Amino acid sequence: MNIRQRQLGVAAVLLWVQVGLSQISIGPYVQRVGTDRATVVWYTDSTTAGVLKYGTAPGSWLGSIKVSAGTVHAAEVAGLQPNKKYFYEVSDGKTTLATGADFYFKTHVAAGTRVPFSFIAAGDLGDGSTAQIEVAARMISERPKHEFALFLGDIVYSSGTRSEYLKKYFPIYKDLLRNFSVFPCLGNHDIKTSKAAPYFEFFYTPTNNPDSLENYYSFDYANAHIICLDDELLVSGTALTKQMDWLQKDLADAKARGQFWLIVMFHRPPYTMGTHTDDEFTKTTFVPVLEKAGVDLVLCGHSHVAERSFLLNDSKIINQDLSYYPKDGVTPGTVYVVAGSGGKNDNLDGQHPLMAFKQSRAAGFEIVYVNKDTLRGKYMKRDGTIVDIFTMTKKGKATHVEIDDPAQRPLQYVLNYPNPFHPRQTPDGLSIVFELSQPQPVYAAVYDLTGREVMRLRNGEVMRAGRQVLKWNGKGKNGEELASGAYFYRLQAGVQVHTAKLLLMP
Ligand SMILES: [Fe+2]
Ligand SMILES: [Fe+2]
Repeated sequence: MNIRQRQLGVAAVLLWVQVGLSQISIGPYVQRVGTDRATVVWYTDSTTAGVLKYGTAPGSWLGSIKVSAGTVHAAEVAGLQPNKKYFYEVSDGKTTLATGADFYFKTHVAAGTRVPFSFIAAGDLGDGSTAQIEVAARMISERPKHEFALFLGDIVYSSGTRSEYLKKYFPIYKDLLRNFSVFPCLGNHDIKTSKAAPYFEFFYTPTNNPDSLENYYSFDYANAHIICLDDELLVSGTALTKQMDWLQKDLADAKARGQFWLIVMFHRPPYTMGTHTDDEFTKTTFVPVLEKAGVDLVLCGHSHVAERSFLLNDSKIINQDLSYYPKDGVTPGTVYVVAGSGGKNDNLDGQHPLMAFKQSRAAGFEIVYVNKDTLRGKYMKRDGTIVDIFTMTKKGKATHVEIDDPAQRPLQYVLNYPNPFHPRQTPDGLSIVFELSQPQPVYAAVYDLTGREVMRLRNGEVMRAGRQVLKWNGKGKNGEELASGAYFYRLQAGVQVHTAKLLLMP
């Protein structure tokens, strides 16, 4: 090597060192997305300036935000339009560190808007197992269909340390976090390190409570209100009183503003028979307040299984149906989901009497669909199969929910005849004919126009694949004559629902 070559070599090393000054070590990841704002977070391995540009297409920037120099950069963009996709780019002021079509966030749909949306929820995630990696891959492939994720505590094992986040959280969820906002809640493993200091360092949540705490919060998405509670740190004394006061006010406020669906998450399930039994604290402290306010759905982790309750009130089943819960808007009723298998996945420890669905070793996550007056939950395992489904409607409306996945359509065709139906002319009854692509539990019932069930035709028993016929003789549950006029039936096979009108003639 001559002198000239050596000089070039030194110059190249210096250049490399200079570029190497601004390497991203964590992120960027999106947090605290709302209707008009979002926070983008990234870490660099040495002190640099931090600049976030944002706009409606990569390269066509509407503005930029400069954060103070350091290694941790969190830039909050505010004043945005609701329900809009914004792209972002991060730099150290000179060198671009992250940019492209995959770096974006979508602001939330404004409160009160009746548009369909869905989100995913899972707890007990970061154990570094194959199951965690496979569930994460499924979340990432499903991600374009959904708006955000709820992480239900026990985010990283075993102690919620910084180094556990660096190994078992950021590398595994990287492709999810750069454009998908995760709303977390605290789990018992998260608080093992300095009262959850790493959790509070990495997560940015809404702080809409008087003490501006990140332990508990709430936000709206369309016509749903979603609340996160802390069952780990603020569980006694004044701290608990403040949390409960806030909860009652927050629920009352959401209802006063007309938020239709009330959904609550916290870590420890009040009802479970998995790797834990019923949590007495959440059952006696949270549940009575939530049920009194008419909360529809509670999502928990902690128990490393998948469970989903019947419609419950005060620890009692108030609707025995395995999967369909029409609420008239007055009668109470809450469904409790345990989705503590985002990575950890263990065995049930028995059959909880309040659970309509339960499964051991069910690595996966819950998907919640909200469509106007209908809420539907599905449990998806890591291979993409759906193993549970339930539907709630409010105000007695049996709203048809579009099925998002054509592969999950077991009903090949549905016919009904004769319609109009004259019971005296067809004493054999009206026929509802359909074909099942695979064996499925089938539910079917006839309703009057107010949504009152007048006759149950099928109660969830499995029917074999092929052509099937259900009959209705035009009479009510006790064999009584029904008034002539319009009725409708609802047929559910697996995840698919079919409804149609029937005209009963004298
Ligand atoms: Fe836990
Ligand atoms: Fe756990």
